[in-house]
Amino acid sequence: MTNDPLLQPYQLKHLTLRNRIMSTAHEPAYSDDGLPKDRYRLYHVEKAKGGIALTMTAGSAIVGEDSPAAFGNLHAYRDEIVPWLRRLADECHEHGAAVMIQITHLGRRTNWNHSDWLPVLAPSPIREPAHRAFPKEAEDWDLDRIVGQYAEAAERKQAAGLDGIEIEAYGHFLDGFWSPATNRRDDDYSGSLDQRLRFTWRVLDAIRERVGPDFIVGMRMVADEDWDMGLSREEGVEIAQRLVASGQVDFLNLIRGHIEHDAQLAKVIPIQGMPAAPHLDFCGEVREATKFPVFHAARIADVATARHAVAAGKLDMVGMTRAHIADPHIARKVMEGHEAEIRPCVGATYCLDRIYEGHEALCIHNPATGREATMPHVVTRAEGPAKRVVIVGAGPAGLEAARVCGERGHGVVLFEAASDPGGQVRLAARSRRRSELIGIADWRAERCTALGVDMRFNLLAAADEVRALDPEVVIVATGGLPNTDFLNAGDDLVATSWDILTGDAKIAEDVLLFDDNGGHPGMQAAETIAAAGAKLEIVTPERYFAPEMGGLNHVAYAQAFQPQGATITINRRLTAVRRQGNQLAATIGSDYGDWSEERLVDQVVVEHGTLPLDDLYFELKEESVNRGAVDYRALIAGRPQTVRANPDGRFQLFRIGDAVSSRNIHAAIYDALRLLKDL
Ligand SMILES: Cc1cc2nc3c(=O)[nH]c(=O)nc-3n(C[C@H](O)[C@H](O)[C@H](O)COP(=O)(O)O)c2cc1C
Ligand code: SF4
Repeated sequence: MTNDPLLQPYQLKHLTLRNRIMSTAHEPAYSDDGLPKDRYRLYHVEKAKGGIALTMTAGSAIVGEDSPAAFGNLHAYRDEIVPWLRRLADECHEHGAAVMIQITHLGRRTNWNHSDWLPVLAPSPIREPAHRAFPKEAEDWDLDRIVGQYAEAAERKQAAGLDGIEIEAYGHFLDGFWSPATNRRDDDYSGSLDQRLRFTWRVLDAIRERVGPDFIVGMRMVADEDWDMGLSREEGVEIAQRLVASGQVDFLNLIRGHIEHDAQLAKVIPIQGMPAAPHLDFCGEVREATKFPVFHAARIADVATARHAVAAGKLDMVGMTRAHIADPHIARKVMEGHEAEIRPCVGATYCLDRIYEGHEALCIHNPATGREATMPHVVTRAEGPAKRVVIVGAGPAGLEAARVCGERGHGVVLFEAASDPGGQVRLAARSRRRSELIGIADWRAERCTALGVDMRFNLLAAADEVRALDPEVVIVATGGLPNTDFLNAGDDLVATSWDILTGDAKIAEDVLLFDDNGGHPGMQAAETIAAAGAKLEIVTPERYFAPEMGGLNHVAYAQAFQPQGATITINRRLTAVRRQGNQLAATIGSDYGDWSEERLVDQVVVEHGTLPLDDLYFELKEESVNRGAVDYRALIAGRPQTVRANPDGRFQLFRIGDAVSSRNIHAAIYDALRLLKDL
């Protein structure tokens, strides 16, 4: 029996949780027609296989049609959900994990212009900036209906064989009554704390009436909105104490802060560059004040912090939610003594930002997450003979290729022109705020070392070096270089975002940055320029700036630009640059008419993606058996590549990542995994 605090079982009523590690509710938008079908199930089952004690399914499964889904939320109000949830629960149970679900009425945290086109409802008609709906104030008949919806939803979850439910109470309908910021009613659901809790008691009573006293019911609740006009800590803790005293709930899953807009949401769900575990002490204090089971998650991404949270008595169950999106096998690796092999969550929050942009949650560096049907989390050893594999380029794509081929048991040589692995990840990680990104490269480099990959740095491999190794498979992962080709004139006068990030270009006093990519590289260069105290204008042809980046990542940039008074100009396109005296004259046009003007600045910085470094690929192409071709159907289906266009060829040749076209880290790593997992 281990004495690791994190691995001690936890008794919650009749339920024994096998350790202290859980994944808190999060909707990854894997639902299909509001139901948790195969993709959803496999995602949770993977965590169960990985040793997690409790997986809280759904994020905000909606209790009624009048709470329209915000991002693929499960439909807790439909009977069809029961068999799907039962199957999910059964399979997780087979692997020893407990399964619960979070249910909610989203209140004003959603929108009305889809689904059944019902008005958004809230305790008071106050707009939530994040979702931009102007809600209707809920009437008595709305409240009666919603109480019934909660009870029916809870009963369905019990019927599905789940171990319990959790009621969401931060930023949604239920807690909307608690907070003075969102409850401006003039009836007996407003005013004193007793009155503001009236709706909560109605919901809990109705749920208990349906599910009985034994079924586990928890509350994921805000216990301090940390907001001058919101719920105070004093009242929040009192609500927690009253809930405990009521005997109606079995655990508290604590939140501190409010989620009115992205800047506040980022304090509740901190991203990279923000402090780790910022609310842990607060949770410990509430645990002390209530003497009740306390769960919590907020950037507890590493095992050491999680262990401390339990050992120091701050939490009973530690939520490591994004950490499991990055690696669903955390508990197993801890149990097996392979903690160092855990793929780190680097806090990039690509996962969460994607759902707010209408996509599904994906991890920036684990492409198997959410793709369990086709992509392995654990790459197994190949059964056939080991192959000689040569990989050129140790950016994220090349490193992943080397790792995967190493796991398959092949003999791998990895060439890299620079002195260290990482490529563009290393560049991005140069900013202190994003330095954790280096974990993407470091984790792979460590795995490669352990797997015996022969990594050769400071070596610009040409075709002869590759041929000399007589490879059976060649992977060109040489990345790209900044593209300045798009200007009509003056591309030799501009600096690139890379020049700013590397420090190769000295930042001038008055800088115009043209971002025609819309993601991190341009914004990160802009952040660096702003931090240097320069006068900065960001120009973009888009309708809004940095459209490829989600809301939570946007926060830090917006915060960085404000103190320097950076100007952001949308709907304008840089077309040419010429020298004028000591300065540069930038021609700015518009896609929306025949308009242009010149601006005089000290420096023009451009971000327009990269152009592939593909010389090596084209030099080797005719010598390869597949002439570089990829069978996309096989790739999509996760089948091996069998193209034999040139029977005289000596090796299979593939290029991956930005050596193909300018994309992102996830795309580069996914290229490598899906091409090579069956090699
Ligand atoms: C993709 C995604 C969706 C989320 N959706 C919800 C949700 O619907 N309800 C909820 O209470 N929390 C939601 N969360 C927040 C998580 O439960 C958790 O509080 C947050 O990720 C911080 O914990 P972590 O640092 O361990 O990831 C979501 C998180 C992610 C990453
Ligand atoms: S995208 Fe980033 S924050 Fe999200 S799970 Fe992956 S590493 Fe963690």
